[in-house]
Amino acid sequence: MSRIPLIAGNWKMNKDHVEAAGLVTKLWWSLIDGHYEAEQSEAAVIVPFTDLHTVATIIEGDKIGIGFGAQDVSEHDSGAYTGEVSAPMLAKLKCNYVVVGHSERREYHGETDALINAKAKKVIEYGMTPIICVGEVLEIRKEGRHLSHVLTQTKGVLDGLTPEQVGALVIAYEPVWAIGTGEVATPADAQEVCGAIRGYVRDTFGPAAADSVRIQYGGSVKASNVVEIMAEPDVDGALVGGASLDPAEFAKIVLFYKG
Ligand code: 13P
Repeated sequence: MSRIPLIAGNWKMNKDHVEAAGLVTKLWWSLIDGHYEAEQSEAAVIVPFTDLHTVATIIEGDKIGIGFGAQDVSEHDSGAYTGEVSAPMLAKLKCNYVVVGHSERREYHGETDALINAKAKKVIEYGMTPIICVGEVLEIRKEGRHLSHVLTQTKGVLDGLTPEQVGALVIAYEPVWAIGTGEVATPADAQEVCGAIRGYVRDTFGPAAADSVRIQYGGSVKASNVVEIMAEPDVDGALVGGASLDPAEFAKIVLFYKG
């Protein structure tokens, strides 16, 4: 079964809505220049909440063939949760994707696997696709516990989902020590963990879910290293931070399959 790779650009807390308009437009020009085909490799931008309406309007109005989404969501539908943004609000903007459990949310906001699981369920309930992040810190990698750590996270964040739901979502393996550091996991490191995640999905949710779930690698992905990472059999895309803020560079990453 073939999985269409998903290359998602996580802008993090960068670009106001005016800058976002320029960045999405320039990205689209670069993709068109490179003969982008969404069936070969799908592009998406994951933008700050304040950019979503602008990005949604441009993507729809200019028929820009890329996905978009948010970087977080509340686990509640509505109510007295000052500062939070709900899944129905994001669905109303026609977000395709919502990232949940990014390591920066885990680290700076104390997000747990149980909370991330609840957020992922909300995203699914409102018809969007969660990109659920897992990954180990350097200390755990040095102790050689990265596989058991990531599989425990995977178990927690997928708890209670059906095989169909798991088959349709995206898991992003992002080793924390490789995020924004220029330190890239080797393709073999990425494959080891992405393969183990798929093995867990196969054992727990069955072969159909394992064959269709998309597993991304994230951490210092650039045009210069994406080809070798994407050559690994269990890596189905990339979650790109810094390099996604440069439209020409990000377009090259999306078009990795052209070599
Ligand atoms: P960098 O690509 O900047 O290392 O960020 C990775 C990341 O955290 C994407 O979510």
